[in-house]
Amino acid sequence: MAKYTVVKMPGDGIGKIVLPEAIRVLDAVGFDAEYVHADIGWERWVNEGNPLPDATLDLLRKHKLGLFGAITSKPKTQAQAELRPELRDKGHVYYSPIVGLRQVFELDVCIRPCRSFPGNPLNFIRQKAGGGFEEPKVDAVIFRQNTEGLYAGIEWTNPPEQVLGALATHPKFKAFESVPSEEIAISTRVFTRNACRRIVTAAFEYAKKHGYPSVTICEKPNVLRETSGMMEEVAKEVHADYPDIQRWSTNIDAQMMWLTKNPEDYSVIVAGNMFGDIVSDAFAGLVGGLGFACSANIGDEVAVFEPTHGSAPKYEKLDPPIVNPIAMILSAVMMLDHVGETDKADAIRNAIAAVVEEGKVRTYDMMRLPGGPDALSKGAASTTRVTEAIIAHLS
Ligand code: NAI
Ligand code: MG
Repeated sequence: MAKYTVVKMPGDGIGKIVLPEAIRVLDAVGFDAEYVHADIGWERWVNEGNPLPDATLDLLRKHKLGLFGAITSKPKTQAQAELRPELRDKGHVYYSPIVGLRQVFELDVCIRPCRSFPGNPLNFIRQKAGGGFEEPKVDAVIFRQNTEGLYAGIEWTNPPEQVLGALATHPKFKAFESVPSEEIAISTRVFTRNACRRIVTAAFEYAKKHGYPSVTICEKPNVLRETSGMMEEVAKEVHADYPDIQRWSTNIDAQMMWLTKNPEDYSVIVAGNMFGDIVSDAFAGLVGGLGFACSANIGDEVAVFEPTHGSAPKYEKLDPPIVNPIAMILSAVMMLDHVGETDKADAIRNAIAAVVEEGKVRTYDMMRLPGGPDALSKGAASTTRVTEAIIAHLS
């Protein structure tokens, strides 16, 4: 019997391409695991009216470790229109199954490391005052609260009367009282002290374990006094246990400016759900973009690892495939770290670094080519060639 059982959820589009590549690398490094397949995503929605089948939840409950590719999501009306005819008007409502997974298993700690690999032509560079360019090393690890805030899904268009009634108890709601309710849309931002404490503690623990000098709380407490204010307050309390680590605070808007000026100043960053989503995409853009952006969703029991990118449907059918497998492979590496197989994790990271630095085998994104069937004839490597190059560097 293998030491680990991993639930593999390729999902849709290029999820089905990159996930098997990651498993090839895990096999090559000697990770002692077997993989059980679980369905998730658009096909399940179209055929069953549920993008996140119970069988998938059961497998994750049992095996605790998940590798996820990507899913396709479409707007409400389109989702209804693509549902099999006999399922329509039966009350099925589409929701994002990855958001669903995060909520069902309380995967409240999302980690998104954004580290530049030397030699990556997509790395951030900066013009020097005296002429010429410099390439600061970016090594930021974003901790995003994954289950609450603006993405918790508590929202209405044309809110019910009780909701409007409750809001009317707030003096600031006066400004909206004369607006007809069908003209009002509301998305709520709920933070809880416990979830703030968990994400902030996870960030400080990570900084301590990996020797990062600072933790930056990236919110907007000057305006979002209650929610961002709570995150700040909790961070101050938690920081007391980590006297050797500096605690910085930035506002999300200013942070977006500073990270494009001095990204090397930042190390561990912690934020609520939406700001964490934004700031992690921005940092990912400085270290290679979607082809490199990996993530972990961690709860008390279950952990799911996934690239940040989506299903990129326009590349799904290309044969041979051209998309970059590195984001998915790096997500699998985060799984190795999570279960304590750090030597294997380091081996894969080093192999990726060597392939990037050599620069001989590059997918189209790393060559700054437009994606498409002719990318390979222009010198880009296929998905599988990149995987093979990484495997060849493992020893
Ligand atoms: P996307 O991430 O799928 O693709 C955007 C563009 O990024 C692609 O057209 C491609 O040029 C590039 N790209 C993405 N992954 C790449 C890779 N591995 N290598 C090289 N280039 C890559 O985002 P898009 O087009 O906005 O959404 C497509 C579908 O994916 C939608 O249905 C969306 O809802 C869904 N989605 C799912 C996510 C998830 O499963 N976690 C996250 C984001 C979007
Ligand atoms: Mg995002």
